[in-house]
Amino acid sequence: MRKNYVLALLLFLDFLNVEAQPGSMIPLPSPDLHKPLKSVMEAFAERKSVREFDTMSFQLSDLSQLLWAANGVNRPAEKKRTAPSAMNAQDIDIYVFTAKEVFLYDAFFHAIVSVVKGDFRQMLAAGQDFVKRAPVVLLLVSNLERFPRGTDEQKKQWAAIDAGMVAQNIALYCSAAQWRTRPRAFMEVSQLKELLHLSAAQEPLLNLPVSY
Ligand SMILES: Cc1cc2nc3c(=O)[nH]c(=O)nc-3n(C[C@H](O)[C@H](O)[C@H](O)COP(=O)(O)O)c2cc1C
Repeated sequence: MRKNYVLALLLFLDFLNVEAQPGSMIPLPSPDLHKPLKSVMEAFAERKSVREFDTMSFQLSDLSQLLWAANGVNRPAEKKRTAPSAMNAQDIDIYVFTAKEVFLYDAFFHAIVSVVKGDFRQMLAAGQDFVKRAPVVLLLVSNLERFPRGTDEQKKQWAAIDAGMVAQNIALYCSAAQWRTRPRAFMEVSQLKELLHLSAAQEPLLNLPVSY
């Protein structure tokens, strides 16, 4: 744990080179809320989905910005986040796929937790090979059990909407930072469920390759 703190302090560390044991937590640097970025209106004007990704590996500080913008905690006292959530269920979890390892974002610790070692981006690509070039692919998984009430059909609908909210945060951050992304629904869902040991109530809904 102490070793991991030291790792996180190296703000410009290439996180792909961080060696983590499954289950171990790598704290992310605090998000920089004053980082110079394009304006909100410019981000809207330039938002687009691309298929061309740069292979350059991602900095830990940039992953911090991206995950916090996606669904980080912005109101700690209320345990609320940058993306809205139906019934405040907070059902969306974000998995981070890299060339070496898969991590789970822990928004409350603003940290990534190692889930499994290896490159599994082909499960997300599902034949769209451009996905495998991106150094980071974010997978949005809804846990339907977190909805306190509603029919199965309603829960699936709210889950899809919640995933869309997080995906748009990612798209707009990428646009403001002049990075590349694309929201995607195609993926090998049953393989991913097995890999990540997801329960029957956890549904992979969208994935987004991201690169500089
Ligand atoms: C829910 C959703 C699912 C999508 N799934 C895929 C996909 O699996 N593969 C893909 O290449 N693009 C996918 N896209 C991207 C769309 O093709 C893209 O948003 C559309 O062509 C409009 O382009 P734009 O985002 O640049 O405006 C998806 C978009 C959304 C909103």
